[in-house]
Amino acid sequence: MAGEEVPGTVKRPAELYETPDAKKAKTDNEPKINPLTEREYSDRYYEILQKRQKLPAWEARKEFLKLIKRNQTVVLVGETGSGKTTQLPQFLLEAGYHMQGDKSKGIACTQPRRVAAMSVAQRVADELDTFLGAHVGYLIRFEDKTSPETILKFLTDGMLLREAMTDPLLTKYSVIILDEAHERTLATDVLFGLIKEVMRRRPDLKLVVMSATMDAQKMQGYFDNAPLLNIPGRTHPVEIFYTSEPERDYLEAAMRTVVQIHNSEPEGDILLFLTGEEEIEQACRQLRKESSRNPENGELVAVPLYSSLPPLQQQRIFEPPPGPRFPGGPPGRKVVVATNIAETSITIDGIVYVVDPGFAKQKVYNPRIRVESLLVSPVSKASAAQRAGRAGRTRPGKCFRLYTEKAFTTELAEQTYPEILRSNLGVVVLTLKKLGIDDLVHFDFLDPPAPETMMRALEMLNFLNHLNDDGDLTDAGDQAAEFPLDPQLAKMLIDSPKFKCSNEMLSISAMLSVPNVFVRPKEFGKEADDAKGRFTHLDGDHLTLLNVFHAYKQYLTEGADPTQFCFDNYINARSMKSAENVREQLKRTMERLNLQMLSTDFRDKEYYPNIRRCLVAGYFMQVAHLEKSNHYLTVRDNQVVALHPSTGITHKPEWVLYHEFVLTSKNFIRTVTQVRGEWLLEIAPSYYDVRNFPKSEARNQLERLQAGKSKPQQPQHQ
Ligand SMILES: Nc1ncnc2c1ncn2[C@@H]1O[C@H](COP(=O)(O)OP(=O)(O)OP(=O)(O)O)[C@@H](O)[C@H]1O
Ligand SMILES: [Mg+2]
Repeated sequence: MAGEEVPGTVKRPAELYETPDAKKAKTDNEPKINPLTEREYSDRYYEILQKRQKLPAWEARKEFLKLIKRNQTVVLVGETGSGKTTQLPQFLLEAGYHMQGDKSKGIACTQPRRVAAMSVAQRVADELDTFLGAHVGYLIRFEDKTSPETILKFLTDGMLLREAMTDPLLTKYSVIILDEAHERTLATDVLFGLIKEVMRRRPDLKLVVMSATMDAQKMQGYFDNAPLLNIPGRTHPVEIFYTSEPERDYLEAAMRTVVQIHNSEPEGDILLFLTGEEEIEQACRQLRKESSRNPENGELVAVPLYSSLPPLQQQRIFEPPPGPRFPGGPPGRKVVVATNIAETSITIDGIVYVVDPGFAKQKVYNPRIRVESLLVSPVSKASAAQRAGRAGRTRPGKCFRLYTEKAFTTELAEQTYPEILRSNLGVVVLTLKKLGIDDLVHFDFLDPPAPETMMRALEMLNFLNHLNDDGDLTDAGDQAAEFPLDPQLAKMLIDSPKFKCSNEMLSISAMLSVPNVFVRPKEFGKEADDAKGRFTHLDGDHLTLLNVFHAYKQYLTEGADPTQFCFDNYINARSMKSAENVREQLKRTMERLNLQMLSTDFRDKEYYPNIRRCLVAGYFMQVAHLEKSNHYLTVRDNQVVALHPSTGITHKPEWVLYHEFVLTSKNFIRTVTQVRGEWLLEIAPSYYDVRNFPKSEARNQLERLQAGKSKPQQPQHQ
């Protein structure tokens, strides 16, 4: 037991938590009591238990408990679907690891993705025959489904990092499981270094690192030669097919392939990998149409899976495929259309065919021009192998790669780069500073980020006044780290009382933190555009978002049905609900930090300008200037950009502030609001010290403004 290693602890009767053997319990007439709920186990419990006991993880149970008893860290690898995520936390619970003496502690299991945290928590709650949110819960950004009772907590790696800010030794937990460690997300990489340090100071803390085979050795070395446990899988061979020619349109090729499989291959579900919500929804619509067009074939049920999908809809991926449409007819088939979430974190049984177009959305960062963007990029060989493996879960399967074999061998990278090597490190540095780690150069990163990227982050935080010139956290920086937001958005909220618009900034921040609120179905494009037009503010998209939020709230206070409002106005109801929730949480953080809730009177002509000034206070580093040649250049970095077609701005303002840089066929800036040159100089004088600017029209114009000679080049909407 875990407690044995802590002096003076009381042993807890292990048999109390021993899972009853499914068969024995069935033959025994004596009812077994669930120690967690103190109720009799339900029939469903035994049903699931029988399935659980067949998972490969169960064979490794004893060995695992032996290793974790003797070692502080255990590295664990195992085939997908072997029961790592769902079973191992339960083994620890049954063995009493949630108790340290008579103190109840928690077992934390991190997940890189929100969806996985939610889905796994639900599954484990079912397996333990308890309610989600009671003994088993999850914690993701802006959603806490745990209670004081929770002892098994599935949380995103980012949330564990946030917990470390207030509880640096992670005293709440007796065991931490870093799941999907090979995914090497930003937060997991920081957690590696952090937990390594915490374990030195807390010999009672246990760590389980779950990883894919190829990274295991590296992790073992990093964690002072931790032992490795390999859970053998029971996967089946997967035959791989390539296209003979490169596909021009991978979406079209994917649709064609799915339909072909459906029409000609034996029974078995399909998993198709696409890159994002919009693409996935479009593909699902198309496949549904296809299915209704051929009633003589079996039904084809398309189920989407992406991170912003609500939990209930996510669960649909586990539903069995439909039966025949008519007696004796061909059986139906399920096709799950997913982002790379389905590549690792979530295992879906019954998949026999995988369609892999070879792309995923990935974050890229260029420190030289300080641009971070999501880019649809080719996957790595490791990813492709992982995707293919998903077809062999229940029986031999097939994987259709929509690229040539030559492209696979010559063009794909061996492995995906860890996120820390391709991200803006602003949040990481702010987090580390808040955690009291000052010596960033000697922080024990598994893969240290490039010095230039680190410098860029320090520089940005210094401009935001989150770090002083010595690199120490300022009071504002300390506050900014409290927000689960990027440092610029946090800065905007912290400064909002000064601009008398905290209420409005809260709404805008919330709207910026949720998936796109505007829906634009292809067949109703014009109607959707008209609807959006009714909310559009000519000064900028941030203000349009605010208008939408206001209209929505207005509707709610009038007691009207918000779903109807959303439907009528081509607004995503889920996003709006989530924005409300996010706003509430951010508001609580602001109140905790004693930041005042203020608004300018709506009739005051400064109402909107104040909001725009406040946007500048956070995002002064994301501004573009209109050149005489009629295109925009980002200030200081001089990148040519264009306003994204989704913008509501119909003219070309001289100065625009943007929320996002989007790299596609060209460089777009998205969510744009017009600002004034004078404001840049007033609000961010150290960044707009034009002496540091490269020669440019923006520089000339700012110099003119500084000299007080200039008139604005174009009329400004105020
Ligand atoms: N929500 C669910 N509904 C039904 N069955 C599930 C659910 N989640 C998991 N399972 C079952 O439990 C098994 C083990 O899943 P688990 O997620 O623990 O595997 P894993 O070893 O963590 O896999 P991976 O490497 O893919 O993360 C799955 O193969 C599946 O049969
Ligand atoms: Mg898992």
